Amino acid sequence: MDDLNQLCAEILDDIAAASDEAALEVVRVAALGKKGRVSLLMKGLGGLDPDERKAAGQELNTLKTELFDAIYARRTALQSGVLDARLAVEVIDVTQSARPETPGTIHPITQVTDELVAIFADMGFSVVEGPNIEDDFHNFTALNIPPEHPARQMHDTFYLPEAEDGTRKVLRTHTSPVQIRTMQAGPPPYRIIAPGRTYRCDSDITHTPMFHQIEGLLVDRVTHMGHLKGCLIDFARTFFEAGDVPVRFRPSFFPFTEPSAEMDVACSREGGELKIGEGGDWLEILGCGMVHPNVLENVGVDATEFQGFAFGLGIERVAMLKYGIPDLRTFFDSDLRWLRHYGFSAFDQPSLAGGLAR
Ligand code: PHE
Repeated sequence: MDDLNQLCAEILDDIAAASDEAALEVVRVAALGKKGRVSLLMKGLGGLDPDERKAAGQELNTLKTELFDAIYARRTALQSGVLDARLAVEVIDVTQSARPETPGTIHPITQVTDELVAIFADMGFSVVEGPNIEDDFHNFTALNIPPEHPARQMHDTFYLPEAEDGTRKVLRTHTSPVQIRTMQAGPPPYRIIAPGRTYRCDSDITHTPMFHQIEGLLVDRVTHMGHLKGCLIDFARTFFEAGDVPVRFRPSFFPFTEPSAEMDVACSREGGELKIGEGGDWLEILGCGMVHPNVLENVGVDATEFQGFAFGLGIERVAMLKYGIPDLRTFFDSDLRWLRHYGFSAFDQPSLAGGLAR
């Protein structure tokens, strides 16, 4: 019995002294392994008479359990020590924000998109999205832009490599293909907006190869130009938060609308500073028109029964106007100073009830 206590104390000391998992394993094998000291004692039980064997066996089992527990506890401690040591050395914490000194801000494009969605959602439009990689049919043909149409050149299209069947997908040059996808998906009426990225092979002070648009489409039984004008005038006044910002509609051309127009808002450019809502100048902010009957027929909507209007607006353009951002290209520079200056707090959720922004 004393021997056993002595043995137990010795092994427990060894366990406590093991400085890593490998050393602990040596101690374990020396005690509990096949030829370990405890195992050999277990084997020795066979030579005892039954009563002695029972008592000694119980003692040995208790010892074994105690040693097992001690080894387990020591291993756990060593492992967490290893983890602590690693955590101390490996200082990269992937859950930390990349630049703790820079509080994140909402990009003006995101903010303005949210503002636009808030305005049109309030008018009963729902938000849909379409793919950035489009086929020729949705981006052009269905929109009444046949293959030889000069508008295809106007769009400076990015083409993807030719597929085996000779077709080429495109990066959508506008959000108008979402009109087609929406109308293909179910019967009229439609009342949707579609914000998203658009692409044109064009890059200078006022053009970036990727930019953002928001498309609007409303189709119903009795829809006319008055609805279009009312909707867009309301939009402009709400968006620019100027009670009666003057707007005007100029005749224009788009293959997918007839008649077509562009909407301008009044502005002044005095002293090189652009101001919305005053002065005698005009600035174009969107294209619009009544959906061309060919477009309706292309998606199987009876143009004698349904009419509609559509519009497409450049998000960067109105963001620049509203927030006085002078250079388009800075939107995509990822310049933290710029983002700090023009970005929005994540708590500035645009809503009509709460004021659009700031
Ligand atoms: N898709 C047109 C463009 O990108 C804008 C537009 C949309 C015009 C809908 C009329 C109707 O220029």
